[in-house]
Amino acid sequence: MAKRKTILDVQRMKAEGEKITVLTAYDYPFARFMDAAGIDMILVGDSVGSVVCGYDTTLPVTMDEILYHTRAVVRGSSQALVIADMPFLSYQVYLREARLNAGRLIKEGGAAAVKLEGGENVAETIRAIVAMDIPVVGHIGLTPQSIHRMGGYRVQGRVQEQAERLLADARAVEEAGAFAVVLEGVPKELARQITAALKIPTIGIGAGVHCDGQVLVIHDILGLCEKYSPRFVKRFADVSQTIRGGIDDYIREVKEGTFPTDSHSFE
Ligand code: KIV
Repeated sequence: MAKRKTILDVQRMKAEGEKITVLTAYDYPFARFMDAAGIDMILVGDSVGSVVCGYDTTLPVTMDEILYHTRAVVRGSSQALVIADMPFLSYQVYLREARLNAGRLIKEGGAAAVKLEGGENVAETIRAIVAMDIPVVGHIGLTPQSIHRMGGYRVQGRVQEQAERLLADARAVEEAGAFAVVLEGVPKELARQITAALKIPTIGIGAGVHCDGQVLVIHDILGLCEKYSPRFVKRFADVSQTIRGGIDDYIREVKEGTFPTDSHSFE
C-alpha cells in the first residue's frame, strides 16, 4: 500500500512541474474510488452543503458536518492527503476559535491540512494556524462563502484593480505560510501570472490550464448534480442515467414480484 502523501510531495510536484490532482469527496465509497485511482489530494469541501445536503449556498455548513464527512473520507483513503474545509463562521470571528476549529479537523477529523477562504483579510488567521503546525491551503478569487459580497458566483479579477488585489491576496496567503492556494473563478491569464509569482502551488477551479494543479467537485464531473453545471466543469462521466435505471428496475421488479428470486432468498 502506498504511503499517504504529505505536503512535501505537493512541494516536490510544484518544483518538478508535475500537475497536482485534487477532487472533493464527502464519504467513504467515493474516497476509496479516488484514492485507489491515485488522486494526490482529497478535499472535504464545504460544497458538501450544495451537492449533498441541497442547500443553496455553502453558508449553512457546520463544523460538525465537516468533521463527520472528513472522518468518513479519511477512513476511505490511505494514500491521498486529506484537506478539510473550514466552514463559514468557524474561523472569521476570533483567532482563538479559528485555531481550535482547525485543530479539531486534524485531531477529531483525521485530516492532514485545512483550507480557508480569503486573502490579506485572513493572513493573520493562516499564520496562527500554521504556527500550530497545521498545514493550510488558501482559497482566493471566487470564494463561495463571500457570495453576498460578490452578488453571485461571478468570475473575479477581470478588471485591473481587482486583478492587482488578487495578486496581493495570493502573495499574502503565501507569506502567511499556506502550502498551496486554490484559485477559483479567475481569468486564465491572471491565474498564470499568480502561478508564476508564487513558490507554493496554485490549484485551479475555473482558472485555466496554467495552474499547478486542478480541483473539481466529484458530483459535477460525474454528472450527479443535474441542477446546474458551471462552464468550467467537464463531465467526465454521466452516472445519473445508470442510477436512474437501477432505481427504476428495482421498483419495477418489486412491483412485478420478480425480485427477490430464490437466489436472493434463504431456505
Ligand atoms: O468546497 C469546495 O468544494 C471547494 C472547492 C470547489 C475548491 O472549496
